[in-house]
Amino acid sequence: MGGKKTAQTVAVIGLGKLGSPMAAAIAARGVSVIGVDLDPAKVDSINRGEPPVQETNLAAYIRRGRKHLRATGDIPAAVMDSDIVFIIVPTPSEPHGGFSLRHLLPACEEIGRALRKKKAFTTVVVTSTVMPGSTGGPIRECLEKRSGKTAGKGFGLCYSPEFIALGSVIHDFLNPDFILVGESDPDSGACLDAFYQKVCENRPHVARMNYVNAELSKLAVNTFITTKITYANMLAHICQQLPGADVDVVTEAIGRDTRIGGKYLKGATGYGGPCFPRDNLAMAALARRVGETAPLPEATDRENRTEARRLAALVRSKVKPGARVGVLGLAYKPDTDVIEESQGIMVAQALLEDGFEVLVYDPLAMESARVILGDQPVYCANAEACLRQADAVIIAVPWKEFGQLTDKALGRHRGRLVLVDAWRAASENLRKVTEYIPVGVAKTAGGNKRPA
Ligand SMILES: NC(=O)c1ccc[n+]([C@@H]2O[C@H](COP(=O)([O-])OP(=O)(O)OC[C@H]3O[C@@H](n4cnc5c(N)ncnc54)[C@H](O)[C@@H]3O)[C@@H](O)[C@H]2O)c1
Repeated sequence: MGGKKTAQTVAVIGLGKLGSPMAAAIAARGVSVIGVDLDPAKVDSINRGEPPVQETNLAAYIRRGRKHLRATGDIPAAVMDSDIVFIIVPTPSEPHGGFSLRHLLPACEEIGRALRKKKAFTTVVVTSTVMPGSTGGPIRECLEKRSGKTAGKGFGLCYSPEFIALGSVIHDFLNPDFILVGESDPDSGACLDAFYQKVCENRPHVARMNYVNAELSKLAVNTFITTKITYANMLAHICQQLPGADVDVVTEAIGRDTRIGGKYLKGATGYGGPCFPRDNLAMAALARRVGETAPLPEATDRENRTEARRLAALVRSKVKPGARVGVLGLAYKPDTDVIEESQGIMVAQALLEDGFEVLVYDPLAMESARVILGDQPVYCANAEACLRQADAVIIAVPWKEFGQLTDKALGRHRGRLVLVDAWRAASENLRKVTEYIPVGVAKTAGGNKRPA
């Protein structure tokens, strides 16, 4: 069986927000990649050497990997020519939690048909997020039926999700904390292990296991992190009301306890994006499916959905009805244009519902925001324009450029700007010249100020 040798060529099916940066990063590390997508625009874009999606350093990595990277719309042809086939197509959320396989199974049908004709051993890797039971269930069954071969013998089948954040996909993919592999057989797991050791920059630990443990581990990582974020947010709410308290002082201290750790422990806005919220709901749905309860992810999700309203309420308590309120940051995090489940968008919506005149600005997400917010807010050309026209501004996303704003940005502001800083990101200078309200820092005499 050819499963043990390191891959010479890999196929990446799905050239979206995760697939195209992965394809480019693999190619840049010297492994031949055949990218596949149903969308001809994405295929053409890769073949022209241009990024099909917005992602940090993607253009540079496509250039660097160009010799090893090509794209096609033809799944069977890509499968015939590759040793490992990664599937990174969408798995949309189901209404009550969990992920649909409606894009993934058609891709598997085509992969299976190609495997029927192919002599060389091929390892199929599901990278899309799926519910526990999917890889060993419908996905395996579909591939076996179409190929006439058995997973683990006639072809390899692994589940190997990625723990990347949009905006740093390439860095995260090349420098993972660990790699998760659910495997049909030891040879396929070893083949994938060798592939990651070759491609990653940090020789990561590869945790190898059966499918269902890997599927559960993926959800467990994300639900644990969201619980941690929500815990820090709870501390921020308490600190805000507790004289002398400052959430950053507390989280900085407790994060040094290695049992807790400092990452994702910052009381700020809620979490958002295409993975965290839905993985949480999926964990709750999984618990229900097996006749268990999962109050923790349910509570985390419930709490997280109160955060935008809390921020809007804080603004409401500081300005007159109908005032002009700016929202800085609409993407779900810095360095991306993705607005899915974005707290900045939710805050803007809450403020609009409250009857405020809302101004918005984001360095990358203005176009995507317009699709959701329509003509209701004023779209500012830059952060300065937002600050100058508003009575109050919320820093909803810690974009680096927001932390570099100074009093110059205010120009000839008509009054004293109320600055609600959910991330404590503003410069010292800007804090001094505004009515500065750091979220999670207790109100002391003279406003919400940090003690010197
Ligand atoms: N984006 C993230 O932050 C992230 C992080 C971890 C995991 N994931 C998972 O990765 C998967 C993909 O996410 P994404 O954000 O890259 O999605 P995306 O929507 O940005 O891209 C998916 C791509 O797959 C293509 N596609 C759909 N069906 C296809 C088919 N049958 N054959 C070939 N191409 C097909 C689409 O045209 C699209 O270009 C999802 O399961 C998601 O949960 C995403």
